[in-house]
Amino acid sequence: MPTKSIRALLGIVLIAAMATAACKVAGSLRVDNLRCEYKTGPVGIDVVRPRLSWVLVSTGEMQRGLKQTAYRILAAGSLSALDAGRGDLWDSGKVVSDRQSQIEYAGQALGSGQDSFWKVQVWDQDGKPSAWSLAGRWTMGLLNKEDWQARWIGFDAAPGVADPKIMPPAAYLRKAFPINKPLRSAVLFASALGVYELHLNGKPLNADVLSPGWTDYRKRVHYFAYDVTSRLTSEDNVLGAILGDGWYAGYLAFTGKRHYYGDKPRFIAQLRLDFADGTSQVIASDGTWKAAQGPIREADLLMGCVYDARLEMPGWNAAGFDDTGWSAATEDQNVHANLEAHPSTPIRRIQEMPTRKITEPKPGVFVFDMGQNMVGWARLKAQGGPGRKVTLRHAEMLNPDGTIYTANLRAAKATDTFYLAGGPRRDYEPYFTFHGFQYVEVTGLEGRPAPEDVTGIVVHSDLPRVGTFESSNALVNKLMENTVWGQKGNFLDVPTDCPQRDERAGWTGDAQVFMKTACLNMDSPAFFTKWLTDLCQDSQRADGALGDVAPHVDIVGFGNTGWGDAGLVCNWQMVQMYGDTRVVEQHYPALVRYMDYLATTSRDFTRGTGAYGDWVRLAGPQHSEAIGTAYYFYSTRLMVELAEVLGKADDVRKYRAQAENIRAAFIKNFLKEDGRIMDAKGATGQTFYALAFGLDLVPPDQRIKVAVRFVEEIKKQDWHLATGFLGTPFVLSALVKAGQVDLAYRLVLNDTYPSWLLQVKLGSTTMWERWDGWVPNKGFQDPGMNSFNHYWLGCVGEWLQTTVAGIDTDGPGFGRITIRPVLPSAEAVAAGRGLTSARGSYDSIRGRIASGWKKDETGFRLEVSIPPNSVATVYVPAGDPSSVREGGKTIEQAAGVKFLRYERGYAVYEVGSGTYAFTNPLWSGLNF
Ligand code: BGC
Repeated sequence: MPTKSIRALLGIVLIAAMATAACKVAGSLRVDNLRCEYKTGPVGIDVVRPRLSWVLVSTGEMQRGLKQTAYRILAAGSLSALDAGRGDLWDSGKVVSDRQSQIEYAGQALGSGQDSFWKVQVWDQDGKPSAWSLAGRWTMGLLNKEDWQARWIGFDAAPGVADPKIMPPAAYLRKAFPINKPLRSAVLFASALGVYELHLNGKPLNADVLSPGWTDYRKRVHYFAYDVTSRLTSEDNVLGAILGDGWYAGYLAFTGKRHYYGDKPRFIAQLRLDFADGTSQVIASDGTWKAAQGPIREADLLMGCVYDARLEMPGWNAAGFDDTGWSAATEDQNVHANLEAHPSTPIRRIQEMPTRKITEPKPGVFVFDMGQNMVGWARLKAQGGPGRKVTLRHAEMLNPDGTIYTANLRAAKATDTFYLAGGPRRDYEPYFTFHGFQYVEVTGLEGRPAPEDVTGIVVHSDLPRVGTFESSNALVNKLMENTVWGQKGNFLDVPTDCPQRDERAGWTGDAQVFMKTACLNMDSPAFFTKWLTDLCQDSQRADGALGDVAPHVDIVGFGNTGWGDAGLVCNWQMVQMYGDTRVVEQHYPALVRYMDYLATTSRDFTRGTGAYGDWVRLAGPQHSEAIGTAYYFYSTRLMVELAEVLGKADDVRKYRAQAENIRAAFIKNFLKEDGRIMDAKGATGQTFYALAFGLDLVPPDQRIKVAVRFVEEIKKQDWHLATGFLGTPFVLSALVKAGQVDLAYRLVLNDTYPSWLLQVKLGSTTMWERWDGWVPNKGFQDPGMNSFNHYWLGCVGEWLQTTVAGIDTDGPGFGRITIRPVLPSAEAVAAGRGLTSARGSYDSIRGRIASGWKKDETGFRLEVSIPPNSVATVYVPAGDPSSVREGGKTIEQAAGVKFLRYERGYAVYEVGSGTYAFTNPLWSGLNF
């Protein structure tokens, strides 16, 4: 070897040795929670430049002021290459940046099914490198149409068009296949026009239900991918699927129709086997699969399931089953669905609820109380002669006589019927349905049941909890918990209005008013990424109006105030909560068309409210140009911010000018000399003020007199809220902006009609659709529209977390955080209209943020926790900033705390990462 090369080689060895040594000098940061497209270890990604993120954790004692100053990402095609430090797919090199999310993979082009293993190293504030993170992984999906070798199959018991009046049995599909050499990996891809449950070698594949979820199947159908390597250990294997109608062919939402998208459910699956010897094989759905009908005689999302256990086919999903009586599956050449990887997580069985109580309001009619209005179904344990019919009906509420109240379910039968197998006591569960219920009425049982005979199975899109909240008021804590249950019950692939009646649609107005609460409760970016496509790509009308529901159904309209605006609000929330600009890029053209639609359907920068207005309000006008125009301003202002995010300077100018014109029109038309906000018909209402203050439409010099009128409007309702969909989400923060903090607290803490806490006191365990869903001395509202699981009123959760606990983002994605608890006055607390403590936490995209305060005779204490690489502005309520201490020290002595200013009753500080305890013994309860 020539000397030159030896020297070069030595050089490489030396650099490698230095790099290894450098890694051992671990700095103050550890890299954790590697995620790709918001998911941990996702299988089946079809985003060609997936985005990566991580969270930073302190390695030791030192926690304050930790920062990432640079990062390096290695991505490799194998774990061994990654372990050896070879980024054969991508080596980002050292990138000087504090970014830790929304980082686009920029390595070699990734092919279908390709595995990427990746790890991250970061440099801290002192330029010290961290150790490499543990390896993360993602696996690409099927990127090209041609990658699908599988055919769409089903089981058509009879030729021709299926009868829409008959709910057919579900189809069982199976394929036996051998594996006779060592397997390296196996990935299964599956989708359906309908809903499927996968089985592999004798068992359901996993806890997923109702896959692949709901899209406008005419535009796109999602597939899921599963790593099934560990499940293929024997030579003889069977892949099976049960296929039901679901949203595709069953009764859909409130259309009153079956077969909305098609009359024959179809299934597609492709199992890729990669063997140790480098060869591979694909087991794909086609006409060689076997098909049969079995015990599921009917299965409909709204109506329920009929299950005849006498028709069970034990072992149908395992090897050794005699399928000679089965037919060939129907191969359908006419399906041309656009298959895409599901951007979010499946709906899964998440938890089980035991029965709390059994009553028998009529002989032989047993009512099981689950103690929680929940969504899913009931598992029944029963015994009885073969064919004995046991019927389960589901309801959210009870009639005064203790029987179940089902009038509000409208056409949804929500009834599961089991024909028992005979033999010993065993479990029965329905398929391909879900119900919203607290009570299960069971009839047809042999003998008296025990509580353990019915268990509630809770299902929803599997989104981890990311928020906690607790305060000195137990009812408020329960209210917050109810917002979470409202979310659980309505986040089944699509954010729906309600889960129990024949509606269950992706109402856009509901979703936008609740989205921030939802994101603070559960990890929702992938969920909303999915739905924003339903909304912005698939529901837009030719004139630019976005659907009032998404996926759109043809019996409702488009572009109504507060509903069509969801496109803007929800994209903006993605930027705020997660710093996600890719969704905005993707949907921006649709949003521009929506803005054009607003412009062409407005007059002199004013608008009406369209179809729904301040929906379910109790007083004040439902429809008014004052409301419509304020909302028009809101959307336009959000569009300015979205254009800014994408750096579209011309659009920023254009929409900013438009927003100013709308503001001027609002002030000219609706803001009166005496501070009243009133429309041309002389109407006014709480919502007018909620929007005016909430959206900063009140000129600063007129705030005091308008605030006086605002308070008058609340007083008119005997100090209660009467706002609907458009006013409620703004009203509390509007009161804070109007300087009426105590009044905002009073409205949240009210427990007489109408109020949030009255519902809690009445035993609600979810959010209700209406303030007056059930009122003492009056009973139930109109059963035509009276859901007890409608999350929209849960928008109060956002206020509790951001204003009471005080945690919010300051700009995109929590890089800058605001901790600003807004406190009630000492007088309000003394009058029982305030809280004395509150504590919230949120696992943001940057890590955990916490804020907790407590006020007692010793003074005030605020504990704050900020994740590494974020900076927070902390507002400490203080009459005199010099009395504030942090960790017992004066602010000058406290490490990492910088005094910024004194602002309206707050001493304002800047802190970096770490935990801080601010105390103020002299704090007298100054309000604002
Ligand atoms: C739904 C609402 C929805 C509304 C439109 C209702 O039937 O349940 O939540 O937003 O219609 O006004």
